[in-house]
Amino acid sequence: MPQTSDHALSARVALTTGASFWHTQPIAGFAPLMLADGPHGIRAQIASSDHLGIAPSQPATCFPPASGLGQSWDPELAKRVGIALGQEAAFFGVSVLLGPGVNIRRDPRGGRNFEYFSEDPIHGSDLASGWVRGVQSQGVGTSLKHFAANNAETDRMRSDSVIDERALREIYLKSFERVVKGAKPWTVMCSYNKVNGTSASQNPWLLQEILRKDWGFDGAVVSDWGAVYNRVESLRAGLDLEMPSGGDRSVQKVVAALEAGSLDISSLDQAVSNLERLATRVNSKSAEPADFEANHLLAREVAARSIVLLKNQNNVLPLRQDARVAVIGAFATAPRIQGGGSSHVVPTRVDIPLDEIRNRSASGDLVSYSEGFSLAGASDSDALLVEQATKAAAAAEVAVLFLGLSASEESEGFDRTSITLPERQIALLRAVSLVQPNTVVFLSHGGTVLLAEVETLAGAILDGALLGQGGGHAVAAVLFGAVNPSGRLSETVPAKLEDAPSYGNFPGEFSQVLYGESIFVGYRGYDLKDIAVTFPFGFGLSYTQFQYGELGLQKVDSGVRVSIEIRNVGDRAGREVVQFYSGKPDSKVRRAVRELKSFVSVQLEPAESKTIEAVISFEDLKHWDILTSSWVLEGGDWEFYAAASSRDVRSTAQINLPRSGLVPLLTMSSTVFEVLEDPIAGPLLMNLLPKPSSDVDAGEVLGIDLAAIMGSFPISSMVLTQQDHTKEFESLIKAANSARAEIR
Ligand code: BGC
Repeated sequence: MPQTSDHALSARVALTTGASFWHTQPIAGFAPLMLADGPHGIRAQIASSDHLGIAPSQPATCFPPASGLGQSWDPELAKRVGIALGQEAAFFGVSVLLGPGVNIRRDPRGGRNFEYFSEDPIHGSDLASGWVRGVQSQGVGTSLKHFAANNAETDRMRSDSVIDERALREIYLKSFERVVKGAKPWTVMCSYNKVNGTSASQNPWLLQEILRKDWGFDGAVVSDWGAVYNRVESLRAGLDLEMPSGGDRSVQKVVAALEAGSLDISSLDQAVSNLERLATRVNSKSAEPADFEANHLLAREVAARSIVLLKNQNNVLPLRQDARVAVIGAFATAPRIQGGGSSHVVPTRVDIPLDEIRNRSASGDLVSYSEGFSLAGASDSDALLVEQATKAAAAAEVAVLFLGLSASEESEGFDRTSITLPERQIALLRAVSLVQPNTVVFLSHGGTVLLAEVETLAGAILDGALLGQGGGHAVAAVLFGAVNPSGRLSETVPAKLEDAPSYGNFPGEFSQVLYGESIFVGYRGYDLKDIAVTFPFGFGLSYTQFQYGELGLQKVDSGVRVSIEIRNVGDRAGREVVQFYSGKPDSKVRRAVRELKSFVSVQLEPAESKTIEAVISFEDLKHWDILTSSWVLEGGDWEFYAAASSRDVRSTAQINLPRSGLVPLLTMSSTVFEVLEDPIAGPLLMNLLPKPSSDVDAGEVLGIDLAAIMGSFPISSMVLTQQDHTKEFESLIKAANSARAEIR
């Protein structure tokens, strides 16, 4: 029985469930903590009882959502966004900002892909780490979400993500692990779904073994809103704070379990102490004042950084200031700046692309506007809208088409079933490109869209993903060359949906999603099968060109130092995002052809060159070894690539690395080949093998490769002679294992 009185016990238990929709109880003598969405702006609601964006929230700076920010490939920029968000959070009295989201964009149809950075865990976690550092530098906590394997919206409260351990560790947990270890978020938010059969909110393996023991997390685990299905089980599993409030019912259930002895008091003590630490952290530092004007300028800068130039035939871009421009498409006047759902922010203001283009043009009269299509959907006026747009395009020197997905086509809460742009928009592009060879397409969308036809029709393509409230200013700056685009794709654009590695296993059925592609997610999967894509992961052009020198490799204590000289060989200043990938062609385990390990961006004036470097840690080179249930660095030759995208390798170098990590022990189930490979057991087994009695080759006689057949036999099944050799086998395995144990 607990030592405390019933009342005191209930009060203590109550600390571990919210006091209201967004607030905790007062903890450790501090005022209640307010938690709020996030991630790309503050959603501090005026009414406190709604979380679907229906009740209004106070205007706050709407930065590019993760799908946009991810395209900047710039963790330092993400940190600056984090600092601004931390300041605004403090301004609204928010103690914990509910982000960032680091789930992997596993399938292009994922409904919340716009809230996530990447299809790659290194890229996503580096961006998220910058963001977390920024927010927390202002005394505001973050909540790394949604932990874990929450990669679809369909049936999200019940769905079970069934994933093999390598994929789970190397891809899906990796994006969390690097942030937890490196940037130390003060809270982690568990997801709604199950992971291999157990709800994330009541999963001791995830919340204790992995998060706390393996990664050293010392913050508080918060539930996603409504993700607690059984408060007693979740508390036992290590979920510290149930949100929103579970009310007295939840408290009484926990009290009853404690009193009955079915829940150990240490579970409660642990949760309370984690929450006390959170309250102390939040209250130990105050933020600098928020400057909404400055933050709008930052939102513009970040948006401009996040735009990807996908095509620029005959240097259609940048535009001359005195060019006659036909701006076409409803998004030019009603820009799509963010996604729908819990992350939806009320912006402080919104830059309108058409206005910004007119501002940058030598004269506003040079810029015409036609709607092209209605955002309200198909109607009788479609043909007329296309006709007007085509006329305007023909009369101009260049047409800039604003295409994309409207808010109703993607949002939290559902997955898309198709990844095409609306047919009406493609028809418009076909008509315009027939009369105007200089056709530029600017794209707004949360999730990836197919671009094969756009690629053949348009002279130039700019991909804005979602750019937040400064996107209008940013696109005008890029169009006219005030900003040289330097964004890079953070998700592959496939030639067709059916090529996606997860196709056939998304969004699952009967409340189960099988991650059948295993570790081959995104570019790893396209590369494995050598599938042609429209635009690869990491791709993006510039108004200048860069030349790569020779990749240098050097082994250092913590990993491999990569270095390379980059030269700007064009006539404009620009930023190149240099991507470092690793590969191990002779690997004994399944591996992607290339895996991103690090990236560095470099800003260069024309003719300027700089040598950049990065250290790729041994940790990031390890794979999860199924035999020993541990991380192992394969020894031998490794290849490293300096690349301009996952499919544009500019320089390759090799280095030999020593193996590190546990060595699997031999057992009587080890195969003959495995035993023969061992330096101790191998020769001993060879001595036991019967010498051929004549010069007849048994393999030849049987028409088979006898060695290959015998080699795959477990040693326990190997019959050498009439005698039983079990004892000899056991002793040679013992000899091998005592040597192996020393390496462990
Ligand atoms: C979302 C979270 C969000 C929370 C609070 C949930 O539905 O999954 O991302 O932070 O609501 O609004």
